[in-house]
Amino acid sequence: MATTLIQGGTVVSSTGRVEADVLVDGEKIVALMAPGTTPLGTIAAHTVIDATGKYVIPGGVDAHTHMELPFGGTAASDTFETGTRAAAWGGTTTIIDFAVQTYGQRVMDGLAAWHEKAAGNCAIDYAFHQIIGEVNDDSLQAMRQLPDEGISSFKLFMAYPGVFMSDDAQIFRAMQVSADTGMMTMMHAENGPVIDVMVKQLLEQGKTDPYYHGVARAWQMEEEATHRAIMLANLTGAPLYVVHVSAKQAVEQLAAARDIGQNVFGETCPQYLYLSLEDQLGAESDEYGKFEGAKWVCSTPLRSKHEGHQNHMWQSLRTNDIQMVSTDHCPFCMKGQKDLGLGDFSKIPNGIGSVEHRMDLLYQGVVDGQITLERWVEITSTTPARMFGLYGKKGVIQPGADADIVIYDPMGHTSIGYGEGKTHHMNMDHSAWEGFEIDGHVDTVLSRGKVVVDGNQYLGAKGDGQFVKRGLSQYLI
Ligand code: URP
Ligand code: ZN
Ligand code: ZN
Repeated sequence: MATTLIQGGTVVSSTGRVEADVLVDGEKIVALMAPGTTPLGTIAAHTVIDATGKYVIPGGVDAHTHMELPFGGTAASDTFETGTRAAAWGGTTTIIDFAVQTYGQRVMDGLAAWHEKAAGNCAIDYAFHQIIGEVNDDSLQAMRQLPDEGISSFKLFMAYPGVFMSDDAQIFRAMQVSADTGMMTMMHAENGPVIDVMVKQLLEQGKTDPYYHGVARAWQMEEEATHRAIMLANLTGAPLYVVHVSAKQAVEQLAAARDIGQNVFGETCPQYLYLSLEDQLGAESDEYGKFEGAKWVCSTPLRSKHEGHQNHMWQSLRTNDIQMVSTDHCPFCMKGQKDLGLGDFSKIPNGIGSVEHRMDLLYQGVVDGQITLERWVEITSTTPARMFGLYGKKGVIQPGADADIVIYDPMGHTSIGYGEGKTHHMNMDHSAWEGFEIDGHVDTVLSRGKVVVDGNQYLGAKGDGQFVKRGLSQYLI
């Protein structure tokens, strides 16, 4: 087996940092050693990587992506091949994507279709959650088999009536299965029926620009749905994880439930930390005029910067009221996809592409003094791994773990964008992050021991990534 020695770096974990050399044998980490103490007489590494002055961290785990998701009359523009390669460029070495059971489909057929899309195409390791698009006797039965398939979480929607939405009775029944099996219930918490009425009323008033997407999806309807989900979880005893939290009032609901000891967790996304409804309102281009704002149409939506959501979200990452950051990567091009909603914001496919930028964007939070270096590792790698039953294999640099390792250069710089000499690797014709400058850079990425990114070179290949079966959440007692 080929050995790799990562020498001279600072190994950062969720609990601290230490100067150490890391020895990799084949696909696994085998030792952490005091700097320079490598017994080279006995172990001659085939490859030595100099990490002097750099951070050595566990590869990012992005627990919320949607490669190739059919949605909004089109499909997310990243395939498993392009999306996972972009993830690798950005220091993410595992994604958890959402397999979909559509309405009328059998759960296991939906899952099989997702395996078909991903197998042999991924650049990094991947796992699945299961979207339950129709809760009925058959799907409830099938859900009980998911843990054997390595799928220990399922997502329900309180939004998108007629597409994915489950009503309260369906949620209640699915949560009973969650409580019985230990599977995590993941919730898209927005009151869809009320939002649909607001959408209709805004359109009738001629308010058709992308900005009104955020007006229609009011924070009150996120808070309400979050509260309802928490109460249903409380009644059933289901563990609950609320996805893409954007409203500070929703965070307060989660915090209150956690304070009384309920197994409730929350995730936010980079867009809710950095972007606002006002950015979307102010966006304009020669090509698209006010429709430029479509680039930032996602659900839950961007929130007003005048209401304190962004600051509250950073604070809740410090206080652990929010446990982790995923991207909700769901990219669509402007041409032929987002522009389906020209003249009607409700027809803009919902989603932002960020899988490549999460590690960098959150590192900027370290530079800006929002979070510590250790917390950066925790919310982007260690907690996602623990939350979704991957920890030990992923999310940590320790003997026995997969050698998914990122060497991050704090003296490097990353200019994010699409045009003017900048580039990203996601399959999108724009960047939702145009103009973001990061005071750090992903230098080298190892995926199960193989160097897949080396400076400006991509050394990985389609099919390097394997499906990973997950256990139950390690946050449950
Ligand atoms: O806008 C979003 N979030 N698109 C992806 C689907 C979802 O609800 O996560
Ligand atoms: Zn969602
Ligand atoms: Zn999503």
